[in-house]
Amino acid sequence: MNSSIDDRIHGNQAFKASMRAQWDTAAAGWNAHAADIRHWLHKPTDAMCRMAGVRRGSRVLDVAAGSGEQTLAIAQQVGAQGHVLATDLSPVIVALAQDNAIRAGFTHVETRVADGEDLGVPEASFDAAVCRLGLMFFPDPLQGLREIHRALRPGGGVCTMVFSRPEKNPCLTILMSTALKHAGLPARDPFSAGGLLSLGQPGRIDALFRSAGFHEVATIALEAVFHLPSVDHYLAFVRSSASPILQILGRLDAASAEAAWSEMRERLMSFTSHEGWEGPNELLLTAGRRPEGTT
Ligand SMILES: C[S@@+](CC[C@H](N)C(=O)[O-])C[C@H]1O[C@@H](n2cnc3c(N)ncnc32)[C@H](O)[C@@H]1O
Repeated sequence: MNSSIDDRIHGNQAFKASMRAQWDTAAAGWNAHAADIRHWLHKPTDAMCRMAGVRRGSRVLDVAAGSGEQTLAIAQQVGAQGHVLATDLSPVIVALAQDNAIRAGFTHVETRVADGEDLGVPEASFDAAVCRLGLMFFPDPLQGLREIHRALRPGGGVCTMVFSRPEKNPCLTILMSTALKHAGLPARDPFSAGGLLSLGQPGRIDALFRSAGFHEVATIALEAVFHLPSVDHYLAFVRSSASPILQILGRLDAASAEAAWSEMRERLMSFTSHEGWEGPNELLLTAGRRPEGTT
């Protein structure tokens, strides 16, 4: 194998091992905030399912499903005649998704630990696919989209949800820049591969969808304000489940990490409103279809 390809593959594997460890650690926190996440993402999630073509009886692939908040919504939509496969890189978060599906009484939900860039599912075995706030964490999102394309039957649809540009997601920008500053690390290109905002550059995700072979590619931008009672509720969410920020602060001693949290709190206070706390976000929902006659 060519040595630069070899280096890239090894780099990606190391990146994913670190990503898996981060999400294993953050899994319980993400799951504990499922109700807040549902409230925040309820409307964009409905739009994502519509754009992917999820309907009663569909077989749906849910990539980077986390603890399965959207998986359960999809399971409800497809009904017992349908099927949902929830996949994720982190075994700890997949175990939580499985518990949640069992608790909800959904026997048509299956869970599997799988790297989104190598799903290991049979060719053309799903009617629709979704990936909510996951694709931006892939070191090679084009490979992730090629896997989804392969997994869909010809004519099947996909919709992904990612964060848009930094200025439209100011709280994420504040968290990241403050964490990097306190960790003594240089500012990062927000669009670099595998980061929170890596697919937010205008036109980037559409180009990836087309390169993966999808037709009828279209992106919409949706506002999704995170409404919480106070800035401290937002910080509690971030401190228990925002794995990219936790990873950066993990290199600091306790006092230095507290100094970073305290500066974040101060900067995030500016989003306090008469209704509590309202953190603006903008999401990109991108849909595409595997063309008919491609097997
Ligand atoms: C922000 S969480 C979103 C979880 C869920 N989709 C939701 O919206 O509640 C991101 C998820 O992406 C998963 N992830 C990151 N890289 C991945 C990869 N290469 N393959 C599969 N899952 C991945 C993480 O383990 C984590 O569960």
